[in-house]
This record gives sequence, structure tokens and C-alpha cells, in this order.
Amino acid sequence: MDIAVIGATGVVGKQCLELLGSGALPGLGRVVPVASAGSAGRNLAVEYGLSLKIEDVVALDDFDPSGIDLAIFSAGAPISRELGPVVAAAGALVVDNSSAFRMEDDVPLVVPQVNPQTMATRPARGIVSVPNCSTIQLVRALHPLRALGGLERLIVATYQAASGGGLRGLDELAATSRTILDSEPSAGLLTGPPVSATVGPPVGAPGRFGQPLAFSLVPEIGLRDDDGISHEEHKLRREPRKILNLPELRVAATAVRVPVVNGHSEAVHVTFDGPVDAGDALDVLRTAPGLRVYGADEGYPMPRQVCASPRSSALVHVGRVRADPDDPCSLLLWVVADNLVVGAALTALEIARLAAEASWA
Ligand SMILES: NC(=O)c1ccc[n+]([C@@H]2O[C@H](COP(=O)([O-])OP(=O)(O)OC[C@H]3O[C@@H](n4cnc5c(N)ncnc54)[C@H](OP(=O)(O)O)[C@@H]3O)[C@@H](O)[C@H]2O)c1
Repeated sequence: MDIAVIGATGVVGKQCLELLGSGALPGLGRVVPVASAGSAGRNLAVEYGLSLKIEDVVALDDFDPSGIDLAIFSAGAPISRELGPVVAAAGALVVDNSSAFRMEDDVPLVVPQVNPQTMATRPARGIVSVPNCSTIQLVRALHPLRALGGLERLIVATYQAASGGGLRGLDELAATSRTILDSEPSAGLLTGPPVSATVGPPVGAPGRFGQPLAFSLVPEIGLRDDDGISHEEHKLRREPRKILNLPELRVAATAVRVPVVNGHSEAVHVTFDGPVDAGDALDVLRTAPGLRVYGADEGYPMPRQVCASPRSSALVHVGRVRADPDDPCSLLLWVVADNLVVGAALTALEIARLAAEASWA
């Protein structure tokens, strides 16, 4: 199978190449990394230390999709919107990590562990969407719980890492953290950033996260709609409804950016259509593939530990599973996953693998 990785020099693209290098997709032929003109000619196999034969980076404008069987897009929604249909028309299956097509009726929104049935036939448009990183770990934790009863209501707060903002987000967190540590005596840390940076974006430098993130948090991710809900929060409402095929599911989300390098965490409150038991929830979660479940005496998942090894990064981690003392129909859980692996690259490659098995790609 000949594949192109669009956005190969970004944090998700790099993860895709590393997973390909570790054998995540059998039967590889050509691997064509694509990025902006500024990255053309880079040898990513050497840069990333990959045991994978790949071509030098091709500039997007010079990319010829003919002969490509599978194109994994991780270069942002505008590029997916413009180029995805062109590459699909040239014959490739497009697996898109961006938000460009997720809510379109004729584009499957796939989490292989949850709704593989949506890949029963090749979509006519030749495009499959990978959900938002926060959605993937959420639905993977919720799906097994449906054995306990119907899902009625979700209240979720996310704690999203800086890597969700791409390379620029990581660089900004590192640089601003260093600046604060270098410039403040430790007692000064308590006084926080200059007042100008505590209300509204700092003048002339809104940054990747809209507000200074280092040693703080930002309780809004992405643009905000007129209803006061951010785009990230709308994704957490709409995408689970489509994936779980529960159009009436009530979802309230608060998406928060935290100064964690990598690994998104979620506090989830889920209400069922009848009483549920936390012990039963642990039992069904333990039977689900790709989850690591922490019982009450087994600690709890934390992003830095979860993202510390490839094996751990490939799992969704669920802990602090407990009853809501005021509502017998509700449970609380804590869900952590590597947003670059489970939340993007690995899920894209699992989709590609399903497609290859079905001889679509
Ligand atoms: N980060 C996450 O946790 C995460 C999770 C799920 C989904 N996603 C989605 O994955 C996509 C990539 O995110 P990321 O975090 O990996 O971003 P990133 O680190 O900023 O990387 C962006 C990539 O896109 C390329 N690119 C940007 N503008 C381009 C242009 N005009 N022409 C050609 N290539 C261009 C960049 O190439 P250069 O290096 O040459 O500029 C780079 O390879 C986004 O759609 C994002 O929403 C991200």
C-alpha cells in the first residue's frame, strides 16, 4: 500500500510516521511525507530515527496523489477541505484527522473500537474522519458502559495538554515556562504573570492558547460561538452523538487547556436511564479492548505517566470510577489518553487497517 502523510512534520504527523515505523500498518509500499514548502527535502527518517524507508518531504504544492492508496491528513482543516476531495478523487482513501468533514452525513466518523460497522462499505466520497482527540477517549470509555443501561446525560470537563496546540503550542509552553522560571525568584512565582497578562490576551501576543498557559490554565479552547460555547465544546457534544448513534444524548462540556505537555484528561459524569453500580461498571470496562482500568486500590491515571511508553500511550486509561452519592443513576470517571496517539495517529492507522482489511485502500 502506497501512503501519503500530509502534515508529516507536525506532532501528529511525526507520531503517524513513528507508528508506521513500528509496524502499525502491514504491507507498506511508498511512504510520502508532505508538508509546507519550508519543510521540503527534509529527511524525516533520519530526523526522527525511524526504522522505516520514507521519501524526503514533498511540498504540498508539488504533491502528486496519483498512485497513492491511502492519504492521512494532519495539516489542519483548511488544507483537508481544499485538498482532501482532490486526493480522494485521484483514488486514495482519505483518513482525515481534522474537523473538516466530521459532521457531514456522507462521511463516517469512526472509532474502530466503538462503531466499526460504519466502515461496512467504502464511503462514496472516499473520506473517513477521525474524531476530535477528546471525543475519542470519551466514547471509548463510555461505549462499554452501555451494557449497564442507556446513556442519557453527560457532563464532561476536559484538561487538555499543550501538544493539542501542535508544535507551536509545545514551543510556547516551553518558552513561557522557562521565562517565568528564569525571571522570578521562587517567592515571585506566587505573584503570577504581569497584570496585563491576567485579563484578556497579552497585548500584541495572543499566543497559541489565547492566554498565557504556563503555570496557569485557560478555560476556553478555540473560538467561541454566540451561545458562549467554544468550538471544542461543541465537538464534544456533537461528535459522541454521531459516533454512539445517540442523537438525543444531552452533553454539557467545559474544555480547559492545562500546562501539561502531552496527554488529555477528562472528568466525566454520566447519567443512565436507570440505577447503575460502580462495581459493575469496573467489570464491563475491564472486558473492553484497549482500555486500562484502575480499581479503587490501583491508583489512577495521570497524563505524564500515561504518555511515558508506547504501550501505555496506545491505551485509554480509566480510573476513579465511582457512584454519584446523590444520584443512583449516575457514575463519575476519570479518563486519560495520549492525544497524539489514541487521539489521532493510532486511531487513523487503525481505521486504515480496517479499510485495508476490507480491500478499500
Ligand atoms: N495535536 C493534537 O493533539 C491533535 C489531535 C487530533 C487531531 N489533530 C489535528 O491534526 C492536525 C495537525 O495537528 P498538529 O497538532 O500535528 O499540528 P502541527 O504540529 O502544527 O503540524 C502541522 C502540520 O501541517 C503542516 N502544514 C501547516 N500548514 C501547511 C501548509 N500551508 N501547507 C502544507 N503543510 C502545512 C505543517 O508543515 P510545516 O512543518 O512544514 O509547517 C505540519 O506538518 C490538525 O488538523 C489538528 O486539528 C491534532
